[in-house]
Order: sequence, then C-alpha cells, then structure tokens
Amino acid sequence: TDRYAVFGFPIGHSLSPIIHRQFADQTGQQLSYEAQEVKPDVFNEALADFFKAGGKGVNCTVPLKELAYEAVDQLTQRAKFSGAVNTIKRLDDGSLLGDNTDGIGLLTDLCTNLGVEIDDQRVLVLGAGGASRGILGPLLEAKPRQLYLANRTVSKAKAMEVLFSSLGRIQSSSYEDLAGKQFDLIINATSASLSGSLPEIANGLLSPNGVCYDLAYSEQPTAFVCWGLQEGARLSVDGRGMLVEQAAHAFHLWRGVMPETSAVLKGLK
Ligand code: ATR
Repeated sequence: TDRYAVFGFPIGHSLSPIIHRQFADQTGQQLSYEAQEVKPDVFNEALADFFKAGGKGVNCTVPLKELAYEAVDQLTQRAKFSGAVNTIKRLDDGSLLGDNTDGIGLLTDLCTNLGVEIDDQRVLVLGAGGASRGILGPLLEAKPRQLYLANRTVSKAKAMEVLFSSLGRIQSSSYEDLAGKQFDLIINATSASLSGSLPEIANGLLSPNGVCYDLAYSEQPTAFVCWGLQEGARLSVDGRGMLVEQAAHAFHLWRGVMPETSAVLKGLK
C-alpha cells in the first residue's frame, strides 16, 4: 500500500485523512493516509524519514509550508509564485516535487462549487501572509476588475504587490484606506479567525449581493463569516470547500486521478 501523510503542528483536528480516505475508496486506489504531528524544528528529519520508509507523498499545513518550499528539489510554477508548498510528491528518481494546490483549490470552490464570478469583479483580499500569497496568482489569472490587498502591516502588502504585479493589476492598501470603497468579493486570508478575531475593517465595504469567503474554518462560524452575514452578504462561507478542493488537486498530482468532491464536501458541512 502506498503511504501518504499530512504534516503539521498542531495536527489533531486535521480533516485531511478523512478526505483522502474517501477519495481513495471512491477511485479504487490502494493507499494509506495518516496525520503526523511535526514541529518545524524537526521537519526536515521527519520528511526524510517518511520518504526513506517508502512514503509516496506528503501534504504540509501550518506552519510548515514555507519550510516545505525550501526542502524540495523541484517546484511547480504555481508553488514558485506562492513561496509555499502544501503538496510534496516523490518522483520515480527519488527526488521531491513541491506543488501548491491552495490557490486552485480556492478557485475551484468559489467558481465551480459556489458559482461565484471573479472575472470583472472588484475583489479584496485581507492579509498578506503565507495564506494570501498562495491564492493571489490564481485570483489574478481569473481577471478581476480590481484586486486590492489590504494588511495591518502595510509594508507586507506592498511587497506582495511588487511580487505579483507581473501577473495582473494588484493594489496594496491599509485597512483604513479602504473606507468608501466597495467590493463584490472579500476574502479573509488573515490568521485572525483562528483566534476568534477580525481585521479592523470598516462596515459598508461589501457591495449589495457581495460574497465573503474565509480561508479558515472551524466548527462554529468564524468571526469573518459572521461579519459577512451582518454586512448583508449573499453568501458568506468558510474554507472547508477549499480544503476539500486543494486535497483533490493533491490527490490528482499523486495518483493521476481527479476525485469527485461533492459528496465529500457534503459530508463535512
Ligand atoms: P498565514 O500563513 O496564516 O498567512 P502569516 O504568514 O503569519 O500566517 O500571516 C498572518 C496574516 O494574518 C498577516 O497578514 C497578519 O497581519 P500582519 O502582517 O499585519 O501581522 C494577519 N493577522 C493575524 N492576526 C490579525 C489580527 N488580529 N488582525 C489583523 N490581521 C491579523
């Protein structure tokens, strides 16, 4: 049986093993997938051990994605841009390929599952950390009319603007300077939800019928999902759909088969 795993810290509540189990059953693939708690200081060792023991692939989650980017031998184009790796595949020659399926996972959930348009829409991304960097490339490729990137630490948003401007028009901003603007889609890529808080954004930023999407997820609706509903969002959802879709793209990289996601997603909601 081919072995796969997700590494992270903490990892206890990871849904990835359940998701990949269902993908494997559904596609008739023989594989095992386990969750391993791996702290950053032992990441390289844990990775080497896993592949030495015959492992075929690893997903990396918080806080290991940047370390994974450094650890692999080759990167896909989208991983290069995102500066982070969430999926590692051991190639036949033993070398490690790093990919990042987070951005395509978000786009698949937004556009295919939820029917949200990005083309010609005004889009705001909150946060300029690793999560944000993983999604900006695919978002720009979907041709929004505007893409604003706002962050508490404005210099980080500015640096990201410089990095991504070759892919399309992106404008960095502080939270205060957003006042008076309106967006059709607001994506929360800050880690604030994880501690139950919200970035300090003004009311009225969401257009009537706008959509809010939190990359984070938790059993209770996140603070940002609640904010979206209060602001009259047509749709305000957390990142469970993205989680399932990024997993599907990882599964495809590993096994060459694209699993069907709708039943898995339904089970998680
Ligand atoms: P991740 O990989 O989850 O993106 P990160 O790289 O540490 O983690 O980035 C965290 C992001 O959440 C940053 O944009 C951070 O803002 P700063 O760059 O100004 O620190 C943002 N963030 C975290 N907590 C926040 C809060 N309470 N309010 C606003 N932004 C917050």
